[in-house]
Amino acid sequence: MRIGLFDSGIGGFSVLKKVIELCPDNSFIYLADTARLPYGVKTNNEIKKIAEEISSWFSYQKIDAFLVACNTTNAIALDVLKNNLDVPVFDLIGSAASTIKESRVGVLATPSTVKNKAYTNAILDIKPKTFVIEQPCPDFVPMIEMDNINSDEITDVANGYLQPLLKQKIHSLILGCSHYPLITPLLTEILPSGVKLIDPAEALSLKLKLFMDSKTSNFSKRRKSVDLKFYVTSNLENFPNKAKHWLDVFPEVNLVSLQKKGWVS
Ligand code: DGL
Repeated sequence: MRIGLFDSGIGGFSVLKKVIELCPDNSFIYLADTARLPYGVKTNNEIKKIAEEISSWFSYQKIDAFLVACNTTNAIALDVLKNNLDVPVFDLIGSAASTIKESRVGVLATPSTVKNKAYTNAILDIKPKTFVIEQPCPDFVPMIEMDNINSDEITDVANGYLQPLLKQKIHSLILGCSHYPLITPLLTEILPSGVKLIDPAEALSLKLKLFMDSKTSNFSKRRKSVDLKFYVTSNLENFPNKAKHWLDVFPEVNLVSLQKKGWVS
């Protein structure tokens, strides 16, 4: 199967990794909209416009399924993505919300995701009595993109973000931005052992796997290995190293403009 996914930068790597673990031997097209990173401080209108451009680019890529590997776009413009694509769309927020069992849940996410209360609404739709507290984390994405992930600085920042949630005695913590699973070791160190860490990519991968299993006959010519294609909207030079660091591949990366129309796959 040919699967499309996108993020503003390297955050979607955390989703790609989980999906490859469960659904290997497929073809993946990863788009990083690096020219407009970070998404998490943008307005709803900006994110909707971005979602339109991204989905229209992917509509030329002959994909069989699409993964929303960015929570901010998921929170604000899922309808735009779904309307513009004629393949099944798998999202992080809906997938994670349907698996929540705890009654006190914390969410770490970008300021734009938190402002839209997407996780709170998605969880309360399914389990109305759940207590949900969302914490905006504006400093994480720039730090993770700069690979500033083992410093006292990020430890202090993480402590600051987690304290209000821990005061509320949360039982689980959702990593509501796809960049955050990349700092799981740091978060695990700070969190008390009783708090369960939830990476929404796990629920998304399971849904994708179920979908694939149900379609096996239609896609019987399965690949025998994973095939990865990467596209960025700027900073072409840095991206192969980032992919090497996080995914252990050194891919060819292509520069693409999302504004220009008339793409070919
Ligand atoms: N990783 C994305 C998310 O899940 C976007 C983060 C950003 O660019 O601010 O929200």
